[in-house]
Amino acid sequence: MRNFIATKALLLLLLLPYLFFYHVYSDAQVLSAPMEKAEQEALYTVIQGFVGEGWNVAGLYPDPCGWTMIQGISCDFFNGFWYITDINIGPVLENSIECAPDAKFIPQLFELKHLKSLSFFNCFTSSSHQPTTIPSQNWDKLANSLETLEFRSNQGLIGEIPSILGQLTNLNSLVLVDNALTGEVPQELAKLVHLKRLVLVGNQLSGPIPPLLAPNLAELLILDLSRNSLTGTLPSSLGDLTSLIKLDLSHNLLNGRLPSELGKLRTLTLLDLKDNLLSGGLTRSLQHLVSLQDMLLSSNPLGGDLVSFNWESLANLTTLDLSNTGISGSIPESIAGLRRLRYLALDNNHLTGIVPPKLAALPWLNALYLNGNNFTGVLEFPEEFYKRMGRRFASWNNTKLCYNSIAETSASGHAPYGVEQCKHEQDVNVFSSNPKVGDGNSDKNSSFMVSFGGFPASFSELWWVVVSILLLTTL
Ligand SMILES: *[C@@H]1O[C@H](CO)[C@@H](O)[C@H](O)[C@H]1NC(C)=O
Ligand SMILES: *[C@@H]1O[C@H](CO)[C@@H](O)[C@H](O)[C@H]1NC(C)=O
Ligand SMILES: *[C@@H]1O[C@H](CO)[C@@H](O)[C@H](O)[C@H]1NC(C)=O
Ligand SMILES: *[C@@H]1O[C@H](CO)[C@@H](O)[C@H](O)[C@H]1NC(C)=O
Repeated sequence: MRNFIATKALLLLLLLPYLFFYHVYSDAQVLSAPMEKAEQEALYTVIQGFVGEGWNVAGLYPDPCGWTMIQGISCDFFNGFWYITDINIGPVLENSIECAPDAKFIPQLFELKHLKSLSFFNCFTSSSHQPTTIPSQNWDKLANSLETLEFRSNQGLIGEIPSILGQLTNLNSLVLVDNALTGEVPQELAKLVHLKRLVLVGNQLSGPIPPLLAPNLAELLILDLSRNSLTGTLPSSLGDLTSLIKLDLSHNLLNGRLPSELGKLRTLTLLDLKDNLLSGGLTRSLQHLVSLQDMLLSSNPLGGDLVSFNWESLANLTTLDLSNTGISGSIPESIAGLRRLRYLALDNNHLTGIVPPKLAALPWLNALYLNGNNFTGVLEFPEEFYKRMGRRFASWNNTKLCYNSIAETSASGHAPYGVEQCKHEQDVNVFSSNPKVGDGNSDKNSSFMVSFGGFPASFSELWWVVVSILLLTTL
């Protein structure tokens, strides 16, 4: 059997060159395709600019679109000639082109007239040694070809996003992540009418979200401006980005209300606005975001309540993060109707009233944070729930909340951490240990809190066993 497989593998290996050449020869035009001298020279000069003078690029790669292909560079065939279509610089794969400390842009880059995709990863890294800026000219020469432009993890890439990028009208993806770019988001980006992805995460961009960005970019699927220093309000025109699937403006300094126009985003699955200065409560129109799966609004001085919102309309919601948003009032039962919910964080708010026991019945729920509120009454979740959730359930710092202990709960150490046992139960306890609320160690000693207060529960269980046995024997 092994021999057979080995023979087959050998056969395949022997056949491979044949298959390859067959494929190439069958397209005789491709095999004989030359590269224009100007295109080849431009490529060499451009790469030399990035890798530094220590390399002899032309010598190492005499046939860059043929038998000496360069890792990260792709070519295609136009009117009988090879042209460069993709340039990816940076340590992605083993033989990738990596940048020298003095890496620089060479103007010949803009002579590569069929360039479709250009990306730089971890290339311009030394901000102290030789900071680099994105060239502010010539991009218009790539207007008919360039579809994606990416700069990722270039800590030495400083300066503003040049407004001339707005002339790259064929662009469908502009990704500038984790660089050191400053200044405002240029209004000119609104001219990129075919853009599907605009991601400017993790820079030091300031100023407002350009209000006119929205109506023009009707094809936009992903808008991510998170982790910057953007200020001002959310423009109501965001509601005109009707194709949007992901909207992430988290970790900025945005203020004002959530505009009701956001409710027009019927295909939105992610709304992440956490860690801003947004206020004015949960805008009612957000209940029209019927496709929403993740709603993350934590760490905003939002205020308002949960009860005036029709949660049932967000049937696909899996993550709801409203921690530290200043909301008050009670938890409406309708939240327990969000059957797909996996993560619910309502901690560090001013919520009052009882905790709906139905929450424990949500089939997928695996994190529930209720700590730091003013809930009252009895926490009526089954022991199995505390056991399943472990540390992903939190209810401490609710001074008027207590939990209903049955014998097993405390004996097996699955009591909710930082919550006292209800008083009427403690009275019948033989060992009435009193866990200190808000003390970081109280859960570790909960196994010592043996309680005999659970007789009714044990009795009913016994009763069920008897009934079950009777049923089984009669069947
Ligand atoms: C909700 O999720 C289901 C399953 O993932 C999907 O088929 C349905 O289209 C979603 N509903 C909306 C309104 O997006
Ligand atoms: C809980 O209520 C008391 C008074 O009723 C109030 O002083 C306190 O700030 C409230 N705590 C929270 C977290 O809302
Ligand atoms: C409860 O809140 C206080 C501040 O109000 C905080 O110091 C303490 O750590 C909290 N307890 C827990 C268990 O988080
Ligand atoms: C937990 O129990 C141990 C041993 O009984 C004791 O030394 C420790 O002080 C207790 N810790 C708390 C927080 O009660």
